[in-house]
Amino acid sequence: MPIPRETVEQILQTARIEEVVGEFVTLKKRGSNMWGNCPFHNEKTPSFSVNPARNIFKCFGCGKAGDSAKFLMEHEHFSYPEALRYLAKKYNIKIEEKEQTAEEIMQQSLREKMFNINEFADKYFVDTLWNTEEGRTIGLEYFRERGYLNPIIEKFRLGYNPDAPKWDAFTEHAKKNGYSEELLEQIGLSIKGSKGLYDRYHGRVMFPIHSLTGRVIGFGGRILVNDKKSPKYQNSPESEIYDKKQTLYGIYFAKNAIAKNDECILVEGYFDVLRMHQIGIENVVASSGTSLTMEQIRLVKRYTKNITMLYDGDAAGVHAALRGTDMILSEGMNVRVVVLPPEHDPDTFGKEFSTEYVSNYLKENAKDFIRFKTELLLKDAENDPIKRGQVIRDIVETISVIPDSIFRITYVKECSRLLDMPEQTLTNELNKILRAKLKKTLGIENEVVTETDTTTVTQPKQEETLEEQLPAGYYQERELVKLLLMYGRELITDERIDEDGQRIYEQVTVAQFIIDDLKNDGFTFTNVVNKKIFDIFDHAIDEGRIPDDQLFVSHEDETIAQLAADLLSSPYKLDQWEKYGIFVKREENVLRATVLSSIYRYKDLIIEERRKAIEEELKITTDSDDQLILLKHKKDLDDIRKQINKELGIVIAK
Ligand code: GTP
Ligand code: MN
Repeated sequence: MPIPRETVEQILQTARIEEVVGEFVTLKKRGSNMWGNCPFHNEKTPSFSVNPARNIFKCFGCGKAGDSAKFLMEHEHFSYPEALRYLAKKYNIKIEEKEQTAEEIMQQSLREKMFNINEFADKYFVDTLWNTEEGRTIGLEYFRERGYLNPIIEKFRLGYNPDAPKWDAFTEHAKKNGYSEELLEQIGLSIKGSKGLYDRYHGRVMFPIHSLTGRVIGFGGRILVNDKKSPKYQNSPESEIYDKKQTLYGIYFAKNAIAKNDECILVEGYFDVLRMHQIGIENVVASSGTSLTMEQIRLVKRYTKNITMLYDGDAAGVHAALRGTDMILSEGMNVRVVVLPPEHDPDTFGKEFSTEYVSNYLKENAKDFIRFKTELLLKDAENDPIKRGQVIRDIVETISVIPDSIFRITYVKECSRLLDMPEQTLTNELNKILRAKLKKTLGIENEVVTETDTTTVTQPKQEETLEEQLPAGYYQERELVKLLLMYGRELITDERIDEDGQRIYEQVTVAQFIIDDLKNDGFTFTNVVNKKIFDIFDHAIDEGRIPDDQLFVSHEDETIAQLAADLLSSPYKLDQWEKYGIFVKREENVLRATVLSSIYRYKDLIIEERRKAIEEELKITTDSDDQLILLKHKKDLDDIRKQINKELGIVIAK
């Protein structure tokens, strides 16, 4: 049924693009726009912009652009009416609708029909669980027996599909309400047997599977009796609305907690998710027994770059932890693994111990993935030199997928210690793999490599090409971190214009100066470890403290401790200026000048990267309006750059 035109207009005018997008993408204000990592393509630095004034989004990386409805159509794969209905619901706008006739039901798009029948089934299963004799005595009793309380059963909308009287209670109920057999079969709620349709999930407790926005896209049902012929879990088949490789069980209930904690805990089963939520740990999702997919990883990556895998203590669990991790690492994410005591899975563990005990256990036992893998493989290969060689190659292969070179270096160091191997041997092995990969990317893998070629390849020149693969801004970012760590507590003079136009001077710490300056312009660090350090400073400054370098060097997060140690152990030369042929005139200005120039160089680089993205975009844009917008953006960036260079010039001249 069409939505009246006035209502459509009302919806589109009421919807705030930043609020709609904000549910799916973490946005940061920068200037008049908001920026985030584009959800439509994979990127490391944000080129996805939201313009609240114009109420539109636009990605300068992949070119996607539009209003709130367009965003939802792209992102949630909604049809236009679905997008409008979603927005209407979000903004409490009533769409006048009559009772649907059978014919109208038929005319709805298939996807909408599927959402519709799932919602219908969801209500039925919940109602059956709470309000029927069979539901209560069998279904609810099962949850009770496993120690689940009402709030969690209600929150996750757990349900029950009856067994009695003859396996078709739900199917009959749905048919009576106008749902076709064809649809019931298509969505997988019913199965065709020799005596007609029957309920796929008869006699099972039900777990609705929710999309990111909370719509029911499928179900899982657990059997309650010991029946060797039936699988323990029955899950919906894939459909127009249910794509298993894109789905994580619990994501709808976990997404906010994931973003807030900047960590996603990954478990295997439905009950593992329930248990963790019940004990108050809510940043948890399940891969539902399959190995992780790239799509699932990207789904998590919208909210955090930190994944902790929490697996059963048995051998299968440990093995499962090894799968999928190279994929996570190659996305530049941090992976840690927690292995539970052998007799437990997260469900039983959370049942037996207190919340506090579980959180502490997670904190204390989370092991960096590379270390976990190294130790695990090493145990297998004890005293077997051939196996040991294989382990080394295996580990180095894993290290090679990590996009960030500083992490790679850190891991090589660590593994050299764990494997009792010279660092150089591992580095050589690593470089060999990286070079092979680089050649493959450059499309020269099939070239015949002669003896001499091989030697040239191993020369430092090639190494530089590898370094160029580093994200722009990497060195600048690290330089700022180094300044924070080394000189964070020192005082410099901050010069600013107050409300009356008066120029005022203030003594501030270097840390406060850097953090405030970057934050004011909406910049933050992109590298995970750098960002962690940034956040620690930011947080401390809020509390009126400046952390000292010791805190970082002995930080419980090993990646922080390692980076701090690395940075602090190589001396910083404040007179680097000479390298650029610049001589700072007054001795006491050196620190200030260094800080300012580091900040400017960093911003300059990030802007340059965005400018490049726009230029790429211009090459393929044919629409003249779009071209104008892009040119305007480019000019804005150029202006900012000019300003930066001017300020840099002033700094240098002083
Ligand atoms: P409980 O035994 O009820 O505690 O469930 P569990 O979640 O601990 O089960 P398990 O560790 O055996 O499996 C983990 C996840 O794999 C489950 O939550 C399901 O998503 C999936 N799974 C397990 N068994 C089956 C099965 O027989 N068929 C299918 N399709 N999936 C299964
Ligand atoms: Mn279990």
